[in-house]
Amino acid sequence: MRQEDIWDAETAQQYDTPGTGAFAPEVLEPMVERLAALADGGRALEFAIGTGRVAVPLAARGVPVAGIELSQPMIDVLRAKADEATIPVVNGDMATARVPGEHTLVFLVFNTISNLLTQAEQVECFRNAARHLVPGGRFVIELGVPALRSLPPGQPARVRHAEPGYLAMETYDLVRQRMISHHLRFGDGREARLFRTPHRYVWPAELDLMAQIAGFELESRNADWRAGEFTDESNSHVSVYRLT
Ligand SMILES: C[S@@+](CC[C@H](N)C(=O)[O-])C[C@H]1O[C@@H](n2cnc3c(N)ncnc32)[C@H](O)[C@@H]1O
Repeated sequence: MRQEDIWDAETAQQYDTPGTGAFAPEVLEPMVERLAALADGGRALEFAIGTGRVAVPLAARGVPVAGIELSQPMIDVLRAKADEATIPVVNGDMATARVPGEHTLVFLVFNTISNLLTQAEQVECFRNAARHLVPGGRFVIELGVPALRSLPPGQPARVRHAEPGYLAMETYDLVRQRMISHHLRFGDGREARLFRTPHRYVWPAELDLMAQIAGFELESRNADWRAGEFTDESNSHVSVYRLT
């Protein structure tokens, strides 16, 4: 499963769900407010900008935003919402691609650092964020906490969500530190549609060490974009790293 094959034209066309799910105002508004505050009057860069779910409202909020994105079909969907002058995007790998100019904020949300499937690539991603930042600039990551506590004893899989016609499941490879997220949609008949994404899951502590290797220190970690406390029950975190 290559990322380019997963984020193809069909996925890109179906990605946006205006006003609901990940596009709901209650999800996006606190995120955009926090990112605007963290940009601190400077320019922002989104790694894996996708169809501009976050970048488009952030630019509308007055923050200059650029992006890096591997999938041309995802960029094509973004282009229906914002032109190149409003949100410039480089088609490339967020671990290596370069965007011109200096930024006060780089952000990488929606668990997407885990789409890089090796530790080396994830460290390179931190280094690439550092290359794009002014001294004191921030790298913000939104990432799930690995759900290993939810695995049934002896089982490498769990059902994350179930409703009529839809199942979300995760399978784990504990030796390689990998997880595959499976989304299965089906009707009354025998046919089903499967969408899958592979991930290298990362604990917060490993993320902090990657940050340290790339010259960052942890400024804050919260459970959500509204600055909720991160606790041992949190299933996701928003971590803000500052370039030292
Ligand atoms: C879950 S979507 C997130 C998109 C957007 N950030 C958002 O929050 O809606 C993951 C995106 O990451 C992109 N992606 C995956 N690996 C990438 C890489 N190595 N470099 C750049 N983009 C990548 C995919 O093409 C896809 O658009």
